[in-house]
Amino acid sequence: MNFNLSEEQLMIQQAARDFAQTELLPGVIERDNQQKFPHEQVKKMGELGFMGMMVDPKYGGAGMDSISYVLAIEEIAKIDASAAVVMSVNNSLVCAGLEKFCNEEQKMKYLKPLASGEVIGAFALSEPEAGSDATSQQTTAVDKGDHYILNGTKNWITNGGTATYYIVIAQTDPEKKHKGINAFIVEKGWEGFAIGPKEDKLGIRGSDTHSLLFTDVKVPKENRIGEDGFGFNFAMAVLNGGRIGIASQALGIASGAYELSLKYAQVRKAFKTEIINHQAIAFKLADMATSIMAARMLCYKAAVEKDEGKDISEIGAMAKLYSSQVAMDTSIEAVQIHGGYGYVKEYHVERMMRDAKITQIYEGTSEIQKIVISRSIVKNSK
Ligand code: CAA
Repeated sequence: MNFNLSEEQLMIQQAARDFAQTELLPGVIERDNQQKFPHEQVKKMGELGFMGMMVDPKYGGAGMDSISYVLAIEEIAKIDASAAVVMSVNNSLVCAGLEKFCNEEQKMKYLKPLASGEVIGAFALSEPEAGSDATSQQTTAVDKGDHYILNGTKNWITNGGTATYYIVIAQTDPEKKHKGINAFIVEKGWEGFAIGPKEDKLGIRGSDTHSLLFTDVKVPKENRIGEDGFGFNFAMAVLNGGRIGIASQALGIASGAYELSLKYAQVRKAFKTEIINHQAIAFKLADMATSIMAARMLCYKAAVEKDEGKDISEIGAMAKLYSSQVAMDTSIEAVQIHGGYGYVKEYHVERMMRDAKITQIYEGTSEIQKIVISRSIVKNSK
């Protein structure tokens, strides 16, 4: 594996860093306080090519590689983890799935506006009674010939209120269990499709999380993704890639918290010296820097293997499992290093600590990642 970033990758990293500093940083505390979605900023992210980074330009994307995607998400998440999840869901869970598995007509109609950032998308798998146990879908899609009738509720849907297009997973034939599940593209505004109230969350409060309610929604057959019964495998394939996005978001939260802590420790004095001169603080920073580097290497490896077309279920799960733990540990220590200042909003690290927690929960909890990893290592040991 080549660890040197290309000139183009470095340019993308710098563009994301500049964008985060100038456009995201100024209002990040206010958006967190008021649960305000970063509309203007997401629009600009689209203009920079960040909303469909890896999509072929003929479908409105930027045609970049997955390492560039990891670099950009890390930089965005360093400053604003909410903006990073909006970006990650649109790129990995929506655009990547549409590009890989949709037909030409679906791509021209839905992928093009999504990848260019003209509109944003959401991915609706989780339900009130089916989160980790994703095969237990209760939402139904009954086949009526030229259309399906969709009924059910989806929960915890990122971009739930602001999306225009939704990928919705539903059960068509319960007897076939996961082989009877389908994935559909559903448009906002279709009759019977209602959006529930916005969730009041611990972290990533600038992002927009809702339940979705479907009552006899008519979905044309041409909006099904892939062959009949492909929906669960579709969701799993999409989530494998999505986990690189969340791992990179977690990496960004960790490196953001670390960078603030390093700066603070070099100026804050206690007992007549800068606190970095106290081994108790220096060792925390050493641990942070080491684990962040290890998380970054896992993210890069997963990204490279994705672009090589390899099965990334195991390495993607490893990257997410590890990076999310690093985000949590690092942000907790960042608050500790900042002391009382760390506990107030102005210093950012308390928000990072709140934001970090979700990375251990969504797109597969840490426990689910361990299931994926352990099944894979057992399979490969035979
Ligand atoms: N990659 C590819 N295929 C996979 C897979 C993976 N990682 N994991 C399972 N599959 C396939 C299996 O090969 C199998 O397919 P076949 O029958 O064709 O061989 C099928 O899926 C069923 O697999 P299992 O029998 O292993 O199913 P299971 O019920 O025992 O476990 C699970 C599956 C891995 C636990 C799965 O349910 C899972 O990943 N759960 C977590 C779901 C999740 O991540 N939810 C997040 C919601 S999205 C979100 O958070 C978005 C957001 O808004 C931010």
